[in-house]
Amino acid sequence: MTAGEEYRPAMGHGSRLEFYDPLIRITMRERRFKRRLLAEAGLHPGFRVLDLGCGTGTLAVMAKRAEPDAAVIGVDGDPTAIGLAHRKIARENVDVQLHLALVQELPYPDGSFDRVLSTLVLHHLSHNGKVAALREVVRVLAPGGEFHMADFGRPANWLARAGFGLVRKFDGMENTEDNARGLLEKMMAEVGLRDVRETASFATVFGTLRLYAARQGH
Ligand SMILES: C[S@@+](CC[C@H](N)C(=O)[O-])C[C@H]1O[C@@H](n2cnc3c(N)ncnc32)[C@H](O)[C@@H]1O
Repeated sequence: MTAGEEYRPAMGHGSRLEFYDPLIRITMRERRFKRRLLAEAGLHPGFRVLDLGCGTGTLAVMAKRAEPDAAVIGVDGDPTAIGLAHRKIARENVDVQLHLALVQELPYPDGSFDRVLSTLVLHHLSHNGKVAALREVVRVLAPGGEFHMADFGRPANWLARAGFGLVRKFDGMENTEDNARGLLEKMMAEVGLRDVRETASFATVFGTLRLYAARQGH
């Protein structure tokens, strides 16, 4: 797999990923915002659901538990994250498939999914990487399928800006610029997603987390 400049693992390059789950649980109100995203996604039996940039698999497991008769697939570019996700899935005894791939080059045919979910991933990508990933979301969604995403958005106040400053230092100023400027909704609309809207926001240690929903309009 060619990760190239478009790829940045969850905790930077190194072997710190085992600290990821406790860090996100404590600092990001993880369960709360992921439960809200899943409620908005409205999963039904028979749905095919993709967790884009699934990391250690928390959202994919929650999705499978929310709707056991949906087929849930997680995709991520980091073999270490996929390894941890495999362990979590085995521990939780749920049937979730995992694939190693880049979000800009998804290994799925057009129209494969009823829902694409993604949390805390886009701020890892450059502007062009975000556009490429969003185009892939449009491509792999079935007509009328929905995209539900959570990521850092424009900070709501100075405290959120200060917290997000830490993420920006760590994950890169350029990669996080569209988030800081509140451009994600516009970018989603520009790739052809319909009914793009912000559905919720959460104050977190690392800034303002915003939830977005949109529909495949073709
Ligand atoms: C901050 S983590 C979020 C993980 C998970 N979605 C969550 O909510 O905990 C970002 C994830 O995006 C993945 N990622 C970043 N760039 C990627 C790319 N270009 N293709 C595939 N995965 C990517 C990283 O490997 C990492 O697992």
